[in-house]
Amino acid sequence: MARKWPTAFGLVAALLALAAGLQLGGSTLEQWQLAARWTARVGFPIFLATYLASSLYSVYPAPWSRALARDRRWWGLGFAASHTVHLVALIMATNLNPEPRTVASLIPGSIAYIFILLMALTSSKTAMRTLGRNWKRLHSTGIHVIWLIYTLAYAKRIPVPDTRAIGITMTTLAITALIIRLAARRNRVVPAFA
Ligand code: HEM
Repeated sequence: MARKWPTAFGLVAALLALAAGLQLGGSTLEQWQLAARWTARVGFPIFLATYLASSLYSVYPAPWSRALARDRRWWGLGFAASHTVHLVALIMATNLNPEPRTVASLIPGSIAYIFILLMALTSSKTAMRTLGRNWKRLHSTGIHVIWLIYTLAYAKRIPVPDTRAIGITMTTLAITALIIRLAARRNRVVPAFA
């Protein structure tokens, strides 16, 4: 039986990250900037769990990877929940920041949010059956768009000394995850509990 706790976990982890940012920031702007940063950060492992769920089961069949693959819908919804909290924090941080963002800088993240919304809305078995092959197209495109935004967001932190360590660590994890997905495509084992 699938377990839904990963969805609650995503929400609680992001709310804790938000609370930590609001607690530790020196000014109101810094509080919301930290909240935005940390909500994105706690969402990353949850995203990786979703991104890799089926692939890990293919390359390393084991009880834990089977459970991850079985519950991947709930991990995906956990990521959507955590990124909804990121949305609240980034709206606050953007509104408080005296330096306005360009519209162009908002486009990639907004596209990712459209995919997150569409994927969450179509996460049910009914939507899967109704959309047929388009369901796979939507979810496969969406998860790679989110992967790309995460990878670019972390890669652009590498040249900055203060954020180099987190940039290198997370970019390496993102690229490793892509390699695992590509490896899994070679010996595809589709879990029977979709
Ligand atoms: C228009 C949409 C978005 C806006 C305006 C936005 C804004 C922000 C802001 C203000 C921060 C904090 C910056 C800092 O002080 O470090 C941040 C961090 C971050 N955001 Fe978002 N964000 C958006 C969407 C996304 C999406 C869709 C993703 C991933 C799929 C993402 C991933 C990240 C990452 C990785 C960080 C840095 C986290 C870290 O330092 O560990 N953002 N974002």
